[in-house]
Amino acid sequence: MNHANLKKRTIMRHPGLAAILVAVALAANARPPTTSSDIDRIVHSMSLDEKVGQMTQLDISMLLVPGANTIAFDTNRMREAIVEYGIGSIFNPGLGHPMPLKEWHYLIRTVQGMATTETPHKIPILYGIDSIHGASFMEGGTLYPQGMALAATCDPPLVQACAHVSAMETRAAGVRWTFAPVLGVARQPLWPRFPETLGEDPYLASVLGAAEVRGFQGRNLAAPTAVAACMKHYMGYSFPFNGHDRTLALIPDYYLREYFLPPFAAAVRAGVATVMINSGEVNGVPVHASHYLLTDVLRHELGFRGVAVSDWHDVIRLHTWHHVAATPEDAVGMAVKAGLDMSMVPDDYSFPTLLKKAVEDGKIPESRIDESVRRILTLKMELGLFKDPYPEAAAVKNFARPEYRKVALRAAEEAMTLLKNEGNFLPLKKDDKVLVAGPTANTLFSLNGCWSYTWQGTNAEWYPPGEPTVVQAIRKEIGATNVVYDEGVDFEGMDISTANAVADAKNADVVVLCLGENSYAETPGDINDLDLPAGQQALAMDLYATGKPVVLVLLEGRGRIIRKIVPDARAILMGYWPGSQGAQAIAHVLFGDFDPSGKLPFTYNRYQNNFLTYDRDYTDGRPEAPDDTPQFEFGTGLSYTTFAYSNLKLTSPVLKGTGKLQVSVDVSNTGKREGMETVELFTHEFYASIAPPLKRLRAFKKIDLQPGQTRTVHFTLTARDLAFVNAQSQLATETGDFEVEIGNLEQTFRYEE
Ligand code: NOJ
Repeated sequence: MNHANLKKRTIMRHPGLAAILVAVALAANARPPTTSSDIDRIVHSMSLDEKVGQMTQLDISMLLVPGANTIAFDTNRMREAIVEYGIGSIFNPGLGHPMPLKEWHYLIRTVQGMATTETPHKIPILYGIDSIHGASFMEGGTLYPQGMALAATCDPPLVQACAHVSAMETRAAGVRWTFAPVLGVARQPLWPRFPETLGEDPYLASVLGAAEVRGFQGRNLAAPTAVAACMKHYMGYSFPFNGHDRTLALIPDYYLREYFLPPFAAAVRAGVATVMINSGEVNGVPVHASHYLLTDVLRHELGFRGVAVSDWHDVIRLHTWHHVAATPEDAVGMAVKAGLDMSMVPDDYSFPTLLKKAVEDGKIPESRIDESVRRILTLKMELGLFKDPYPEAAAVKNFARPEYRKVALRAAEEAMTLLKNEGNFLPLKKDDKVLVAGPTANTLFSLNGCWSYTWQGTNAEWYPPGEPTVVQAIRKEIGATNVVYDEGVDFEGMDISTANAVADAKNADVVVLCLGENSYAETPGDINDLDLPAGQQALAMDLYATGKPVVLVLLEGRGRIIRKIVPDARAILMGYWPGSQGAQAIAHVLFGDFDPSGKLPFTYNRYQNNFLTYDRDYTDGRPEAPDDTPQFEFGTGLSYTTFAYSNLKLTSPVLKGTGKLQVSVDVSNTGKREGMETVELFTHEFYASIAPPLKRLRAFKKIDLQPGQTRTVHFTLTARDLAFVNAQSQLATETGDFEVEIGNLEQTFRYEE
C-alpha cells in the first residue's frame, strides 16, 4: 500500500477544515503552553492526522537526501514528514556516526524551524538519541564506562555524575532525549546486551538506575543541563531462553516481579520521563502487545505517567515477526491498545496511516489517542521545547569540558575489579620490563564497546585521536622502553604473532595479557558458545609455559568462560568495557596508582552448562554437587589493602511488623594503604513459601578508609527489605527466621508480622 498517497488524498479532501484548524491553532498557540489545561486545549484543537503524527517517530534519514554522506535535507521529504504527516519525533544521528556540534545544531534548527512555522499547531519535534554511555554520536563527546562497569563501582553519586555529563553533552547538541538507562537485569550470560546492563542484582540495578535517571534529568527537564531519560527495555528482554537477542523469554510472573520489575519501579519513583518497550516476547506475548505489562503493571501499579515508545520496527513486527497480529493494521491497533504512545516506526508512514484508519473504523477510540498525545505534548512542554526548541547557548557551553574526562576516568578506575592476586603479585613495579600481549591490548573497541561513535563501536575512524589503548597507557605509565607489545592472536583466536609473544616473554619480567571480546551491539553480538575463543586461551597457555608471571586483563562485555586459564594466572583484573579512559584506569591499577575497589556485579560462570546467579536457589548449590561453584562470585573484588569486619550488631533479635531494625558493623582497614570498600548487607530467610534464595543484597555503602582506620557502618532494615514476591504475585514479608550477612559475619533474627 502506498501510505503517502493515501495521506495526501486525505489532506486534500478537507482543505476548508484544515484552514479552520490552523486558525484555531494559531490563536491557541499565541503563547507556549505551561499547564496541563494548555496541553488539553491543544489536543482538543488538533485533527486526527496531527495526533497520529505526534505518535510517530522517524529515523532522520527519512528527511535526508538518500545516500548523501553529509546532512543534506531533501525539502520534499522533510515537508512530507514534518508538515504532511506532522510527525512528533525524530531520532538517530543521520549518518550513523558522530557529528560535530555545528552539524547537530544545523540539523536541529532545520527540523524545528519547519515544525514550528509550517505546521498547524507549531509543535516542536522531540529529538532522541542513544547516548548510552556518554554522548557517543556527538563528535568529541565523553565516553564513560558501560553499564556493567558502572555497576562494579557501587558508587551511586559517581554513576549519577556520568549520566549528568552525558545529559549536558547531549543537550549541548540540541537533543533533549536519550534512550538510556538500560535497566534489564543481566541474568542470561550469553545475551549480547549483558554489558549495557547494571548487573544481575535487582537492588543494585535499582539504586544505580535511579541515580542515572537523576543524572540525566536533574530536577527540571527544562534546564539546559537536562535530558529526558528513557528506561529500557521494559521488560524481560535481558532473560532470553536461548541467550540470543530479541528472542523468547520464559519468566513466571513471580520471578518477573521479583527480579526484573524493581529497577523499572525505582526509575519510575525517580521520575523517569519515558520508557522503551522490550522487542521480545515474555511467555509468548510480545511486550508491545501486552496490556498487562504496558498498562496494568506499568501505569496502574507503578504509576508511570510518561511516554511509552516502541523499539525499532517493533509495532509492525507484531505482524511480521511475532505473528500475533494477522495484518499490519491489527499490529498497530494491538500495540496502541496495549499502551504504546509512540512508534519508532522508523522508515515509512505505515503507523500514522494505519492508526488513523483504525480510529476511523472504530477499532480504537479517539480518546485513547488523545491520552498518548497529551503525554507527548506534556513531555515537550516540560523539556522547554515550546518555549525554545533550538540549541540553547547555555547548553552549548557545557560540551566536552576537561573535567568530564576526570569523571569518566574516576568511574573507570572505580570499576576495575581485581578477581585474583596470588601472593599480592600486583601492583607491578614501574621499572618492570613488561610484555603486553593479546587481542584487546591495542584496540579502542574492546575498551568502549557498543554505542561508541557508531552503533557497533567497531569503526576506528570515528574514535577521537589521542585516547590510549592499554599498551599505549602502559607505555605512558612506565616509559616506552620498558614495554614490548605483541598481539599474539586476534579476537577469534587466530594466530597473528604467538611465536613473537613467547620469545618476547622470555625477556620480560612480567606479561600483561589482555584477552576478551571485540565490541558488539544487539543481534550482531549473538554467540552460541560462552567459552573464550580457544586460540585466546592457547595464547595464555603458551605464555604460562615460558615460566614468566602472567597477569590477565579481561576486557569483555560478558563473562566468557576461562576455567582452564585461571589457575596459572598470577593475577586477574576484570576491566569490562571501561570507556574512553579505561586504558589509563587499567594502567593506574596495575602499577598501584589506584587501589582497585570494584565489585563483580554478576556471577562469573565456570561452566557452559551451569549458569548461576549469586541469589541462587538452595538446589543449585547443594553441598553434594561437586565443583558447582561459579568461577568468581558476585561481589568479588580484591584491594591492595585489607579490610576486616567485626562487631556485627542488631538492635533487637526480633523485627516486628512495621518496625525498624538497626544493623551496624565495624569495618577496619588492616593494610598499609588507603582503600575503598563496599560494605554489602545480604539477608537470607531460612524457610519461606517460595523456595528462598541463598542470599539477597538488601543494602550497600561504599566507604573510604585510611590504614588503621575503623568506621562503624549503619543500616536500617524494615519488613520491605525482607519481602519477596509470593506465588500469588504479591510482595510479602513472611514471619520467620532470617540471617543478616555482612562480610564474613552473620547474625540471625526473627521477623514477626
Ligand atoms: C534499537 C535498540 O534496541 C534500542 O536500545 C535503541 O535505543 C534503538 N534501537 C534506537 O537506536
